Amino acid sequence: MLKLIEKGIVLVGFMGTGKTTVGRELASLVGLSFVDLDLEITRQQRKTIPEIFVDHGEAGFRRCESAALRELARRAPCVVATGGGIVTRSENWPLLHSLGTIVYLRTSWLTLQERLTGTAGRPLADGRDWQEVKALWEGRQPLYEQADMIVDTDHLSPIEVAEAIQVKLMAGGMDV
Ligand code: S3P
Repeated sequence: MLKLIEKGIVLVGFMGTGKTTVGRELASLVGLSFVDLDLEITRQQRKTIPEIFVDHGEAGFRRCESAALRELARRAPCVVATGGGIVTRSENWPLLHSLGTIVYLRTSWLTLQERLTGTAGRPLADGRDWQEVKALWEGRQPLYEQADMIVDTDHLSPIEVAEAIQVKLMAGGMDV
């Protein structure tokens, strides 16, 4: 099922699931180029993500995110790591589908909390009450679960997650 890989792969999931690290590993495994959507946004806006949130609010950031996604949909197939909130705008879904197979990197709350502790640069997690972040994570689950494929990442290293995605895609997206 090489075709499934060749049409592109989109990684979705909450902050801290490892989309960027896994995406890089996966791109080199399958021979596609890698794009980090948050990085694209910071390049296009010439501002960091926290600066965009301060200057334009979350709504402004979401508009930039959708614009970057539309731009990406015009490029060659690649492996894309998206920001954790990409799933929240319904207009993003057809674009995500057009970029290839959507893979949800699913991670338990406890693992995420551990991974997010002490990190910075995420306005929706930095300095917030854990209950608030957990509620955001819980509220987004049904959206992430609309992905074409789900990979549980808790006990896997980034390279193991990348390999698991490759194996599943080679098997036509089925569990093996
Ligand atoms: C966000 C996740 C971030 C970034 C922005 C908003 C979110 O990306 O896009 O801070 O709404 O979950 P990561 O998932 O790569 O941290």
